[in-house]
Amino acid sequence: MMMYARLVQWATEVWNQRFPGQEFLTIWASAECSNMLAHAQVKPGRKLKQHVRYTGYVRLDCPAITPISDYGNRGSKMVLTATAGAFAFNFAVENGSPFQVIYASAYFDEDVQDLTAIALVPKDRLEAWAAFEMLCSRAVRPRIRRRRDVYIIGGTDAFFDPTVEWSDVILPDDLKSKLLDDMQAFFGKGVGIYRQLKLPPFRKLLLAGVPGTGKTMLCAAMAKIAIQSGRVVVYVSGADRDGASFEKIQRALQAVTAARYPVLLVVEELDAYLQGDDKARVLNVLDGIESPNNPQGALLLATTNYPEAIDERITKRPGRVDRIFIVPTIQDVTHAEQMLRHYMGDQWRDEHMEVVEKLLEQPGAFVREVALHARMLAAHEHKTEVTTEMLDQSVNSLLRQLRADSDFLRERRPITMVNAKKQKQNNPFGFRD
Ligand SMILES: Nc1ncnc2c1ncn2[C@@H]1O[C@H](COP(=O)(O)OP(=O)(O)OP(=O)(O)O)[C@@H](O)[C@H]1O
Ligand SMILES: [Mg+2]
Repeated sequence: MMMYARLVQWATEVWNQRFPGQEFLTIWASAECSNMLAHAQVKPGRKLKQHVRYTGYVRLDCPAITPISDYGNRGSKMVLTATAGAFAFNFAVENGSPFQVIYASAYFDEDVQDLTAIALVPKDRLEAWAAFEMLCSRAVRPRIRRRRDVYIIGGTDAFFDPTVEWSDVILPDDLKSKLLDDMQAFFGKGVGIYRQLKLPPFRKLLLAGVPGTGKTMLCAAMAKIAIQSGRVVVYVSGADRDGASFEKIQRALQAVTAARYPVLLVVEELDAYLQGDDKARVLNVLDGIESPNNPQGALLLATTNYPEAIDERITKRPGRVDRIFIVPTIQDVTHAEQMLRHYMGDQWRDEHMEVVEKLLEQPGAFVREVALHARMLAAHEHKTEVTTEMLDQSVNSLLRQLRADSDFLRERRPITMVNAKKQKQNNPFGFRD
């Protein structure tokens, strides 16, 4: 028997025991009614519709459901959130008899981590129940009620720090200015133009490039600018326990919709969401079928190491992503010099120009490590100056290490998608342009 049928059967037995002869409606209910956040926030005494007040709940024991809760942080505290379980919700009626709703939520499918719920509601009480469901969903949804600048979805604030200065991101000027102009033009006049055309003001930009070229940094610097102009930033990371699930995108979109401000939505490693069952749903969002409706405008800034993984489904279909920006490795000597000067700081010497050629085709993260390593060794040896030899050694040892790592990984592991990614993180050479 299907899971929902078992729940309905159980609820019907409970109902018939408690209220023999009383008519009820069997409905798909909102899973948010069994969310502990809703239970904490929707307090007994709340007025609903039809002169009905909510008066509290009791947990029921349903043999078909194994109660289990998810958890997450609200503010600085860890709290239980989405919960599978059975409940009786109690309601009082002004000048009338009280009533109950018998409710059960469960994971209907082994693979899909989505709670689904059913409820038995007295025939004439659907309005009141709908009002109760609405209160529960509102309690659960990430709200942008008080003004906050950054909302992190998946992970903690440590994942994303929008304090990067625009000038600290060392990339070709025309790339930087095109990207910034796109954002400013969209939030400026763009939103109005989208609306005139009756399009939801949702623009989608993709940053693609090998690991360590500064995509995350660029997002953080864009976020800083957005915040300074009064926009809200919603940041989605797949790098936590929950990984890259559509549920996160959904939560982010809810936050974007609920914001009463223009939103910069940053989704890191978009490719990770385009695998398995979630793929179609993410594409729906990009296609506009499920895109967020924020009349103030929402700009998606997504990143990927894998333009080729996204290629077919996104890049070849206009409109899914409006613009793709390639964030390149170091392409010329000027850029290399700029990067090395930046990370050498006041220890830069003109003679360091000698190693600059070796930095071509490397990502910024490589240069940073080269400079850090050389400066650390010099300090360790109580030298006041970083010699060119030290810097050169630093370059060579990092190159050797990267090669060794990639050989090691190649020997040890079959190159699946996931491993290929790990390998790339250690081996920027492996990238195919
Ligand atoms: N273009 C750059 N300008 C200045 N610093 C850079 C640049 N690129 C990388 N770095 C340095 O390397 C670090 C790592 O870069 P970042 O995390 O932005 O790379 P990424 O492109 O997001 O990599 P991944 O694809 O692995 O997520 C940065 O914090 C910064 O210190
Ligand atoms: Mg990154």
